[in-house]
Amino acid sequence: MANMENKSPELKVAIEAALEAGKILEKYFETEILREFKEDDSPVTLADRESEDIIKKIILENFPTHSILGEETGMTQNGSEYIWHVDPLDGTRNFANGIPIFGVSIALVVNNEVIIGVVYNPICRSLSYAEKGKGAYQNDIKTLVSKDDADHAIVTVDPGKKEEDKKLRRELQYILPSAFVRSMRDLGSTAVELAYVARGGLEANIQLGLSTYDFAAGVLLVEEAGGKITTLEGNPWKFPESKFVASNGVFHDRIIEEIKKQKEKLKI
Ligand code: IPD
Ligand code: CA
Ligand code: CA
Repeated sequence: MANMENKSPELKVAIEAALEAGKILEKYFETEILREFKEDDSPVTLADRESEDIIKKIILENFPTHSILGEETGMTQNGSEYIWHVDPLDGTRNFANGIPIFGVSIALVVNNEVIIGVVYNPICRSLSYAEKGKGAYQNDIKTLVSKDDADHAIVTVDPGKKEEDKKLRRELQYILPSAFVRSMRDLGSTAVELAYVARGGLEANIQLGLSTYDFAAGVLLVEEAGGKITTLEGNPWKFPESKFVASNGVFHDRIIEEIKKQKEKLKI
């Protein structure tokens, strides 16, 4: 699935960790796995936890001094300038309901710049990866964003955590198709959605305030596939800003205009 030649040691480790974690997710998928709910009401399963454990083990065996920020266990070894942002299972609701759209998301960030990004869906055997400045790949084939304009576009909007961001999401999901976008989706996994933008399967993804481990790997994929990422105001985006538009660039400005209108309407 992945030829390990010509890859940096960090990318090789990220891929190895994603593939191993993927085996765990596959083992539990479509079994009677128990869901629990965290304080923020998001679901978590044994698969999320085991996946994070194996990813951390593999990273620390190879880079014992690096820091890791994982969704399930928080920060391990704070203080390194090399910080891995890990979502061991992005799309837990899909996973627990037997819907095969979810992924492992692993990114390496140095001085607030994402330099490695890997998103892996073990059910589709779809391994997306990118290294800063070296392009984006899916199963070792170089990928580019699509060239489709809005009248053929599929767009996704991911929620934020604040009530006002949730309202903005509802407005955009409703208004964008009637304004100019062909169709909207909610795939239920931010990491997978961004990976789809990077391979031309979706034309844009709007992020309204999730956590760095949700989007860090995906943004590098989009950038390296020739996509455009800006803040919601259309300014240059910089990690770890959690609100942004990631698109194929073709109708990016129209999305920004629409977000501005909706924010004015909602007075946010
Ligand atoms: C979720 C996914 C989903 C987004 C949710 C996230 P999780 O992550 O990224 O796309 O809409 O808000 O919480 O909890 O499955 O890792
Ligand atoms: Ca997530
Ligand atoms: Ca998760």
